[in-house]
Amino acid sequence: MNADLGYPEPWQPRPRGREKLQEALKIGSPKRNKRLQTGWEGFFPYYAGFPELFVREILDSAKLRPDAVVLDPWNGSGTTTYAASQLGLKSIGIDLNPVMIIVARARLLPPSEADHLRPLAATILSHLRASPVTPADGDPLLAWFQPSAAKVVRSIEQNIRRSLVGSMTKSPDGIHLDRISGTAATLYVALFAACRHLAVSLRSSNPTWIKLPKADDDRLDPTAYAIAHQFAENVRGMSKALAAKQEAEESSGAEFTAGSSTIQLSDTATMALAEGSIDFVLTSPPYCTRIDYTAATRVELAVLAPLLKVKPRDLGRQMIGSVQVPSGPIEIDESWGTTCSTFLAALKQHPSKASGGYYYKTHLDYFDKIARSLGRVSQTLKPGGRAVFVVQDSYYKEIHNDLPRILAEMGVLQGLSFSGQEDFHLRSMSDINPGRKTYKRPMGATESVLCFTKPD
Ligand SMILES: C[S@@+](CC[C@H](N)C(=O)[O-])C[C@H]1O[C@@H](n2cnc3c(N)ncnc32)[C@H](O)[C@@H]1O
Repeated sequence: MNADLGYPEPWQPRPRGREKLQEALKIGSPKRNKRLQTGWEGFFPYYAGFPELFVREILDSAKLRPDAVVLDPWNGSGTTTYAASQLGLKSIGIDLNPVMIIVARARLLPPSEADHLRPLAATILSHLRASPVTPADGDPLLAWFQPSAAKVVRSIEQNIRRSLVGSMTKSPDGIHLDRISGTAATLYVALFAACRHLAVSLRSSNPTWIKLPKADDDRLDPTAYAIAHQFAENVRGMSKALAAKQEAEESSGAEFTAGSSTIQLSDTATMALAEGSIDFVLTSPPYCTRIDYTAATRVELAVLAPLLKVKPRDLGRQMIGSVQVPSGPIEIDESWGTTCSTFLAALKQHPSKASGGYYYKTHLDYFDKIARSLGRVSQTLKPGGRAVFVVQDSYYKEIHNDLPRILAEMGVLQGLSFSGQEDFHLRSMSDINPGRKTYKRPMGATESVLCFTKPD
């Protein structure tokens, strides 16, 4: 027992917890495997995502009741909501990044809609010449594309918006992106993917990262034909993958009804979900590795600009894992647990530049947001409900940030009972980071699958 806090040390009962865990849930590797990203799923690659098979096996083995509700509070590209709907379960997916709302909505498009995607894309492209749009001054697309190319991308975007986004999304009280239709979302995803494809010259060693052009002359300058062709090709591929899914479902002969899914644009630190309404949480929280989750989707945010309520910079500040210094002071809270406060004390005292200033403040911001979010997630669970979190550890210089252990402690302090964990060793981006040699630390990272239950 941890004498200070009066709860069992999370990893102490791990062997017993592990047996119980394996008995109850089938936990495969959460590592993303390129070979499994084929067909419809292949159109939703997202660097921080977990594989559909991993989610499907856990949900399947959880033996949930048919009316059970599954929640992913950090839904990203919507792997959990997609897998839940495939198993006929109700689900709710939350994310703060509007790009991820569009991606998760598109992923849920029923296969029966495959047939109209290509004619729709053809109509949208046919309007291009007739009604081209000149991007407004300050249009963020102009930071990526030369004006002639930005004009084509904005014209396609505007045609999608004009023909497929109605008054439910653009209502008098503002834009509700989470009400966008699956078809509109799918065409937006095809346009996102076209922009990423055309930005190949701006890719960095991190495959998900596209560098903003440094000078106006470095901006992308594809022809109108190249942009339109890439968009049409993406729609063709998506409609083919969807049609193949439809065929597979029909030939299996099994009656299939997808579970309903709600995708919500909200901040987990302040979200309002009904208390005790969720049966199962399956999620992967933002990691504490200084990933700016909005910066990785800057091109997509530029495409979506006319539908955004907030500026990308403000959105970046709200994100868990923000690289911006928080606006006010934050104090360490007891509910963060002892491992977290010990880690923060070591980080603050580190002799390297900015450790006690900038890095300390951004880490306080991370733990404050994640602790408040965990409190909300715990409240939404029904008594007897379960929660599974996929979490990765990392290093600050040579100091181990044992995020799995920190979240296990935080979960317990937020009223959950810890039932065990499975660890998987991964190669990580930090292996190619020069910091690994300066500060002695092991190769790779550990990705842990943490399991909790809400006591009755
Ligand atoms: C590790 S990713 C989840 C990936 C997801 N499992 C998938 O398969 O794509 C974490 C997600 O948390 C979201 N996020 C970050 N801060 C958030 C906040 N305060 N509220 C809601 N979502 C947030 C990010 O936009 C990101 O999509």
